Amino acid sequence: MQKVLIAGATGYLGRFVLQEFKKQGYWVRALARDAARLESISEYIDEAFTGAVTDPNSLQGICKDMDIVFSSIGITKQKDNLTYMDVDYQGNMNLLEEAKKEGISKFIYVSVFNAEKMKNLKGIQAKVRFEEELKKSGLDYSIIYPNGFFSDMLDYLKMAKKGRGYVFGSGKYRINPIHGEDLAEVCVNAADGEEKEINVGGPDILTHNEIVAIAFESLNKKIKISRIPIWLKNFILATLRFFTSVKTYGPIEFFMTVLTMEMVAPTYGKHHLKDFFLENKEERSSLKTRV
Ligand SMILES: NC(=O)c1ccc[n+]([C@@H]2O[C@H](COP(=O)([O-])OP(=O)(O)OC[C@H]3O[C@@H](n4cnc5c(N)ncnc54)[C@H](OP(=O)(O)O)[C@@H]3O)[C@@H](O)[C@H]2O)c1
Repeated sequence: MQKVLIAGATGYLGRFVLQEFKKQGYWVRALARDAARLESISEYIDEAFTGAVTDPNSLQGICKDMDIVFSSIGITKQKDNLTYMDVDYQGNMNLLEEAKKEGISKFIYVSVFNAEKMKNLKGIQAKVRFEEELKKSGLDYSIIYPNGFFSDMLDYLKMAKKGRGYVFGSGKYRINPIHGEDLAEVCVNAADGEEKEINVGGPDILTHNEIVAIAFESLNKKIKISRIPIWLKNFILATLRFFTSVKTYGPIEFFMTVLTMEMVAPTYGKHHLKDFFLENKEERSSLKTRV
């Protein structure tokens, strides 16, 4: 039986990856900095490992007896006073060092679709730098480049609940967001696959106008949409860069960038955004996507 270490199991994607590895018959070790966070998913875990990727001492022995390491570790909405370099780069480097010590057979890492085109952004820089180290590590690897997750599309549903959707420019840039369950299949299949770099998005290619429309339709509400001029995006980002820290402007800069460019990846999966919105429309303001 193949053994896998999952780093990121407490996050949106990691939770689905954990379930998929288990479904495919793997023995699973899951890392968490707070073991209590794994309780609700304990049925999929053979062994919990408590440690923080940012503290190399706490990771000692984490890869012992493992065949595969999977990492979806990265800052999304965490407010830990740590930088992308601390977590997305150095945290994953600390895992990679442990993986190298134990000579694991494959390291699977989750980056972002179009990372290469966005490597001027702070959050992406750290990911790309880690990818370069992974490629040089001598270990076999797969890097997954996924499009936006369904979890992030919930912001459109929140806007629709409040009565107005906002898009940048004409709203005609396209994206094919992906559900965590579909993406988890791609991640787990990579363990036995030959592909080193995998671009992937969901089955439906949608403009941002269409996503707003789907959100309103799922609530049976009349569509109300406002268009934000693109120049305002540049102004907002320049202001935020000047007045706030990277912790604040980093995620905003990332989202504003992907909302104002074509983001069409090879399609995969069976989950549709419309159904996801319908499933989540009853949730209150804080829609829960993490364990
Ligand atoms: N969301 C999207 O649309 C999207 C699209 C493409 C790629 N991605 C990338 O895919 C990856 C996974 O995304 P996700 O939505 O699953 O993110 P998520 O729900 O925030 O999960 C991220 C994981 O990283 C861990 N982590 C973050 N900061 C940490 C720290 N300081 N110390 C230890 N662990 C830390 C989290 O642990 P805790 O639970 O303890 O915080 C969690 O397990 C990220 O790198 C993200 O950038 C996301």
